Amino acid sequence: MTNTEQKVYGNLINGEWVVSQGSQPIEVRSPVDGSLVGRLSSMSQQELDQAAAAAKGARKAWAACPVYQKAQYMYRAADLLEQRAEEIAECLVMEIAKDRKSAVSEVKRSADLLRYTADVGKSLHGETISGDSFPGGSRGKMSFVTRVPVGTVLAISPFNYPVNLAISKIGPALMGGNTVILKPATQGAVSALKMVEAMQDAGLPAGVLNTVTGLGSVIGDSIVTHKDVDFINFTGSTEVGQHISALTAMTPVIMELGGKDAAIVLEDADLDFAADNIVDGAYSYSGQRCTAVKRILVLEQVADALVEKLKVRIERLKTGDPREAGVTVTPLVSTKSADFVENLMKDALAKGAVLVTGGTRQGNLLAPTLLDHVTTGMDVAWVEPFGPVLPIIRVSSQQEAVEIANRSEYGLQSSVFTNNLNKAYSIAAQLEVGTVQINNKPERGPDNFPFLGVKSSGMGTQGVRYSIEAMTRPKAVTINLTEE
Ligand code: NAP
Ligand code: G3H
Repeated sequence: MTNTEQKVYGNLINGEWVVSQGSQPIEVRSPVDGSLVGRLSSMSQQELDQAAAAAKGARKAWAACPVYQKAQYMYRAADLLEQRAEEIAECLVMEIAKDRKSAVSEVKRSADLLRYTADVGKSLHGETISGDSFPGGSRGKMSFVTRVPVGTVLAISPFNYPVNLAISKIGPALMGGNTVILKPATQGAVSALKMVEAMQDAGLPAGVLNTVTGLGSVIGDSIVTHKDVDFINFTGSTEVGQHISALTAMTPVIMELGGKDAAIVLEDADLDFAADNIVDGAYSYSGQRCTAVKRILVLEQVADALVEKLKVRIERLKTGDPREAGVTVTPLVSTKSADFVENLMKDALAKGAVLVTGGTRQGNLLAPTLLDHVTTGMDVAWVEPFGPVLPIIRVSSQQEAVEIANRSEYGLQSSVFTNNLNKAYSIAAQLEVGTVQINNKPERGPDNFPFLGVKSSGMGTQGVRYSIEAMTRPKAVTINLTEE
């Protein structure tokens, strides 16, 4: 790989950094100021085949590598990531306009995740089943069940966590004994390649970890349907996830997709606490998180008070350049995104929503916006904006809140703010989501927790142990003893 902007970033294939010889490189420009972050290889079919062949060729030796040694690679990679946290974070700041503090935290969190993954990988074990626990069986029959790798895992990561959401796939896949091909989001790929460089510098054997770059719309179909890909671990939009699923019906997957997480605020909630959490949850990284609070369902009797508290906090948020300390709301990743979010907001206002604060745009920087009196007839009530626009739907009962929450096509997370644990638990039991947060904003972490979406929010479960289990399969060997 090269660090100079003018040259093209290569891909890791069979332990070597290879620059594509074919098509015009892809320019990655900063959403912050339009400067060039780097140029990427746009890989040809032949080069994709080489990456897949490298991953396939390394399978046998990596599967045979003792788990303890696999863990050593992860620990070394984690140390290198931590040492390079500032450098990688600087790249994240410019490439995806993530504020500096969050960027550093993304890299450090990923180092912690790798270490934890190594620990979990070392402690996973199979089971022994005795035949005599089933009618007709005998003690002379014993099944030794171990977990074996599925083969090659294709990891596809989104733009918003180029390091962490790649590591959360690579670490468990490798500890499970698989080889990996990483296809990072194009916007975010330079940061992702820097992370991969750290993993490679930890001494991973050639071919164990490989990368492919190129626009998803150009190389995506070819790589997801590649005959040498045995598992797809994807995080991104529901639209692309469904497209991949339709193409790859027989390939096992984990899919972590979009969300429309609701914050349900009951009449007895601590409104200051709820407002702090909601503002943090909705606007950090400009709402470009799958787990951002994307709608508020508040009981009518406390709605005015909550709106006032939210407004004060939102107006205190610092917006602008992610290089400046304390900035939360930064330019959106692309003009297409900014147009999408602005149109959603304008549509709601035209249909009668009330603008509490925000509503302005400078380039791709949208002011944090709060819309009150949003109705279920407005798109903003249902569509994932992936931007700093938060709709409030006032409800007359907690049943209505649950009904509207569940009417969404998405089912990632939901929050319930209340001081009544009985109510909180009853609502949690009814919500059709992967995780319910009681008195907290939606969030994925800590990273040892299971993370999953239901309905259009995903398939399968991420989280260290769950991920390793998903990317391995049971293998049974039955011993049949003869009685002496
Ligand atoms: P995206 O547009 O769906 O892209 C995700 C990844 O898929 C990128 O690497 C992209 O590559 C690739 N891709 C695009 N078309 C493809 C195809 N035909 N075949 C294979 N890969 C293809 O999503 P995004 O804009 O990066 O991320 C935002 C979305 O991700 C939001 O909807 C958000 O909710 C969701 N997300 C979900 C989670 C979760 O855990 N549930 C976490 C983070 C984000 P290119 O960049 O080259 O197009
Ligand atoms: O964007 C989706 C991520 O999985 C959210 O992770 O809750 O730690 O920001 P987070």
